[in-house]
Order: sequence, then structure tokens, then C-alpha cells
Amino acid sequence: MKKILVTGGSGFIGSNYIRYALNRYPALKVVNLDKLTYAGNPENLRDVEADSRYRFVKGDICDEALVESLMPGIEAVVHFAAESHVDRSIGKPDDFIRTDVFGTFVLLEASRRHGVQRFVQISTDEVYGSTDDSKFRETDPLMPSSPYSASKAAADRLAYSYWVTYKLPVVIPRSSNNYGPFQYPEKLIPLFVTNAIDDKPLPVYGDGLNVRDWIYVADNCEAVDLVLQKGGDGEVYNVGGGNERTNLEITKTILRELGKPESLITHVKDREGHDRRYALDTAKIRGLGWQPRHSFEAAMRDTVSWYRDNRAWWDKLKSGEYLEFYKRHYQREP
Ligand code: NAD
Ligand code: DAU
Repeated sequence: MKKILVTGGSGFIGSNYIRYALNRYPALKVVNLDKLTYAGNPENLRDVEADSRYRFVKGDICDEALVESLMPGIEAVVHFAAESHVDRSIGKPDDFIRTDVFGTFVLLEASRRHGVQRFVQISTDEVYGSTDDSKFRETDPLMPSSPYSASKAAADRLAYSYWVTYKLPVVIPRSSNNYGPFQYPEKLIPLFVTNAIDDKPLPVYGDGLNVRDWIYVADNCEAVDLVLQKGGDGEVYNVGGGNERTNLEITKTILRELGKPESLITHVKDREGHDRRYALDTAKIRGLGWQPRHSFEAAMRDTVSWYRDNRAWWDKLKSGEYLEFYKRHYQREP
């Protein structure tokens, strides 16, 4: 690929992916279309801004005229842009439906018109819903249970329909929970690390025994690249780190790493409709030659260090809009 359109490239995974792709492919040109919502942050890509191969466009994926104007010369679309936080979707689903569903439709239509060679629909393991004892396979039914995951499931299947109906070469990675640098500090790991640094309580929902499968963001970026290059048309690929942990285990790991006491753990009211466990069977993408290269222990250590060393990055994010949302939604301080 010579030129790709990345949407949502100023967010957590998108910014890690753009940095990875520019490093890996010296001749690649990247256009980043991002609305810069509360979750989008130009600082995430400060180091690549001056690169002549990189172009940033501030705008909305729902803006059909803007998307149309960006398509000439684009060979692939890597579509990360979304409203991504489950708690926000519970409080106010509107933007999730608009961006995650309608925005995806706008991009698919433009890609179809322009004969794009590859459309990577970034999906999530949450589309399967919760499972107590099995690992989801790509062919399992989708049973999303939050407005966020339902909007992602709609986009996932809409993208698939563009392969079946119009032969737009769509590929759909469904990854598990990512962690690493530049993650907005409303998500479990960056919220708890930054709270613990400041000796603030860590609000564990319910009994803290919900399980997520954690993947280091760099491993996910490699998986996205692999399915972009080698994934089958219309195919879905589960992308999991193979690190199932309860939220309490994650919390204690963070506290241990920072040398902080477990007395910071505070059990708070559970999330409405809180999925108990996500787990993925990743045999299909492993068959393409991918496997996670980072151990959970080492990558968590690096992640905690990154937030400890980059206070200037997260300090200002934990104020303003974030504080307003937090107090409104949780009726308490973060
Ligand atoms: P994020 O919230 O950090 O970033 C989302 C980005 O999208 C932001 O830069 C934001 O400004 C941009 N955006 C939002 N609405 C937009 C719009 N209408 N037009 C243009 N840009 C818009 O999200 P993330 O955690 O990096 O997730 C990226 C993608 O990966 C999402 O599609 C998410 O569903 C998916 N995903 C995330 C995880 C995870 O653990 N974070 C796991 C699986 C899948
Ligand atoms: O599984 C992939 C998904 O992972 C992505 O599709 C989503 O975009 C991403 O946000 C993430 O969703 P989760 O709901 O799993 O992530 P979150 O970090 O919000 O929560 C992780 C777990 O921690 C979950 O069980 C809820 C719990 N939690 C979270 C927060 C923010 C707490 O106990 N306390 C908290 O304050």
C-alpha cells in the first residue's frame, strides 16, 4: 500500500498504529481523519507531525463531502474512529450510534465508490457479549450487551455486508482489551495507574471479578497490519493477548508496581449490564502467522512506567470535560 486513510488516528490505538506503520513502511503516506473529540489528542502524534508522509485532517467521519474529498488516491482505509467508552455509552448512547454506525456507513460508501483495495473495520471482542466458560470463535453469534458494543456490532456486520453485496474487500479484526501508552485515563488501566500515583482511591466496580483478556497495543497494531496485508476478504479475525485477568488482579498488579497500598482499592456500584468475561480463540489469526510478542508482566511494567514518566500528558486530561463527565455519570470524584 502506498497511501492509506486512518480514521481516529489521534486516539489511543490509532496513534500507536500510525507511528508503527510509518516506522515500518518508509514509502507509506498516511492521512489521519480525526474529529478530535475529548478522546482525540494531537499530542499523541507530536513526534510524527513534521513527517512529510503524514497529513492530519480535523473532521468528522459522518461528513460525507469531507470523506469524499479525501478518497482520491487512497488504497486502504483503516477505520478506528469510534466512541469507545462503555460507561459513556450507558449514560448517553447518541454519539455512539451516530459515529460508530452512521460514520462507518459513510466511509464504506465512499470506499465503494472509489474502489478502495482494503477496508479494515476495527471491531471488538465485546460484540460477542459475555461468556462464563468458553472462548469465542469468529463464527459465534453476536450478543452485544451495551449500547457501545451494539453499535460496534452493527458496524461490524454493515462492513461485512459491503463485502458480500458490493465486493468491497473488507476485513474485520476483533481485539480484546488493549493497554499501553496514550490511552485516555478513563479506561481501567490508565485511570487506576494515574489515581494510584496520586494516592487516590481505585474504584473497582462490583466484586472486581470480571475478566478481560489484555493485549499490549503494539501487538494489536501488528495484527491490524497483518490482516490489512494478508487477511481474507470478508473475514473476521479474533485478536487476543491470551492474558485473562480479573479486574482485582489488574488493580493489585498496578499497586504492586507503584509500591502503593491495597487500601486504595474501593469497591463501588457495579456498571449496569456489566459483561462478566470476555475470552477469544485466536487460532485463526495465529494461522496467518501472528502471535503477541510482549509478555503481560513486562508490558504492564513498561505501561506503568510510561504513565509515571508522562504526567504532563495525562494531568490536563483529568480535568475539564473529563471531570464534568465523571461527576455527572458516577456521582463522585474520579
Ligand atoms: P479512543 O476513544 O482512544 O479514540 C477514538 C478516536 O476516534 C479519537 O481520536 C476521536 O477523536 C476519534 N473520533 C471519535 N468520533 C469521531 C468522528 N465522528 N469522526 C472522526 N473521528 C472521531 O479509542 P481507542 O481505544 O483507540 O479505540 C479505537 C478503536 O478500536 C475503536 O473502534 C474501538 O471500538 C476499537 N477497540 C478498542 C479496544 C480498546 O481496548 N481500546 C479494544 C477493541 C477494539
Ligand atoms: O474488550 C474490548 C473493549 O475494551 C473495547 O472495545 C472498548 O473500547 C474498551 O473501552 C474496553 O472496554 P471495557 O469496558 O472492558 O474497558 P474499561 O477499561 O472501561 O473496563 C475494564 C474493566 O474494568 C471492566 O470490567 C470495568 C472495570 N472498571 C472500569 C473502570 C473504568 C472498573 O472496575 N472501574 C473503573 O473505574
